[in-house]
Amino acid sequence: MIKVAPSILSADFVNLERDIRALREAGVDYVHVDVMDGLFVPNITIGIPVVAAIRKITDLPLDVHLMIDRPLRYVDDFCKAGADILTLHVEADTEENTLAALKKIREHGVKAAISVKPKTPAEAVLPYLPYCDLILVMTVEPGFGGQSFMEDMMPKLKTIRAYIDEMNPGCELEVDGGVNEKTGKVCIRNGANVLVAGSAYFKADDPAAFTQSLKA
Ligand code: DX5
Ligand code: ZN
Repeated sequence: MIKVAPSILSADFVNLERDIRALREAGVDYVHVDVMDGLFVPNITIGIPVVAAIRKITDLPLDVHLMIDRPLRYVDDFCKAGADILTLHVEADTEENTLAALKKIREHGVKAAISVKPKTPAEAVLPYLPYCDLILVMTVEPGFGGQSFMEDMMPKLKTIRAYIDEMNPGCELEVDGGVNEKTGKVCIRNGANVLVAGSAYFKADDPAAFTQSLKA
């Protein structure tokens, strides 16, 4: 089954409660929350108190994407704030600290995940794959919504799908960046089962129809 995860980075922050409540009617699967620290990426967005506030108004799973330096420092806080899936970037710390962070996340009963930036090769996921419930392949440089989809990430996506099928078949494979009806199909063909969509979702005239078209 294909899952859809709207990125609330493209929601109307003045009406965040309205936009998040509307997600359920549109039939989406996860709420994708982009956390940026102005250091790992050149932008600053949502933090721990906002995740905790969102938790109170939706029972949809919160898919929290940490684009922060040395995330081990904050995984307890994000788990306590109500993340259901917590994603770290492999580029954000040493292998030892990333493994420690994944372990800590699972100890909270939260799904542990890693993400790779466009320039990071597929093999970079291998040390972590046994400890992950989801792998996120970036199809734009992380930092901003509304960028163009990088189709040249598809061979990497396909390779990671093969690793997952061989080593950890229950693991989900998510893509993030520039996903729309057309590029979403390309991602599914190359092995993705979770599609993050920010600007395309929130610009859609009919979000329910948009969600269905991604899943079709
Ligand atoms: C980018 C974020 C994405 C972004 C996606 O750094 O991780 O989740 O919001 O936005 P679109 O779908 O507009 O590329
Ligand atoms: Zn994201």
